[in-house]
Amino acid sequence: MVATSEFIQCDIRAQVLVITINRPEKLNALNKQTIEELHEALVEAEHQNDIRAVIITGAGRKAFVAGADISEFANFSVAEGTQLSAQGHFKIFSFIENYSKPIIAAVNGFALGGGLELAMACHMRVISETARVGLPEVSLGLIPGYGGTQRLAQLLGKGKAFEMILTAEMITAQEAFDWGLANYMTSPDALLDKCFEITAKIGTKSPTALRTAIKVINAGYNPQLNGFEVEIEEFGKSFGTKDFREGVDAFLEKRKADFRGE
Ligand code: COA
Repeated sequence: MVATSEFIQCDIRAQVLVITINRPEKLNALNKQTIEELHEALVEAEHQNDIRAVIITGAGRKAFVAGADISEFANFSVAEGTQLSAQGHFKIFSFIENYSKPIIAAVNGFALGGGLELAMACHMRVISETARVGLPEVSLGLIPGYGGTQRLAQLLGKGKAFEMILTAEMITAQEAFDWGLANYMTSPDALLDKCFEITAKIGTKSPTALRTAIKVINAGYNPQLNGFEVEIEEFGKSFGTKDFREGVDAFLEKRKADFRGE
């Protein structure tokens, strides 16, 4: 059980926490309170062993998240702008990327600015064919500040990242899918089912191994680390886990593994 708050609705289904950003009258724009509440929900869910994965989506059909809340930062100073970005990385974007359970973004509508950055911080993205996505910050005299300059280039390569960020143009769901920004594209009605299809596969796997795989894949994108060295170390450590013992025993005994995440 994870508490629902003013702007963050939490539902658990089939051992998956579905977080719905619930501010539809502002197209689910990320104000400070929403960021705090999202962070708190994720912290609460992290140590609940019965939650095996997380899906993040937006309330209503129009928007996933239409960006950071522009009205909140309209009069910010340089110091406040820096703080906004740093806090965002710490509480949401890097936090999600390094989360110990798989997180899927169910992009149900506009994912703009911080909205696309939120989707990109997640481990996978499923997009509705009616969604449109983009990083329009240069239209406001800004640049993406929640990881967009880095993660878009990682996901699409530099050429497309330059094009999307410098033109500020939205792209269609079809383009997002074709370019590799989304893992799958579905009809609006099938969006959550597709996410649950993925989480159903994840749910039978070792939570310990999933946590480690997320850590090691991310290590390869951290300039301070050598991903291959981290892989060697973490691969070795896996042999000391109860999940490894259970996984191998189950295979040899021709039964389904019952992983406890230990
Ligand atoms: N921050 C704050 N409020 C936002 C917002 C944001 N990022 N995006 C939308 N809203 C608010 C609008 O101000 C409006 O509120 P109001 O009814 O109180 O005036 C409400 O959400 C509905 O948006 P609206 O612009 O009327 O809808 P639309 O269908 O005409 O346009 C968009 C939809 C997504 C194209 C448009 O809202 C938009 O361009 N939003 C900003 C996107 C952006 O630049 N994001 C990056 C921020 S760094």
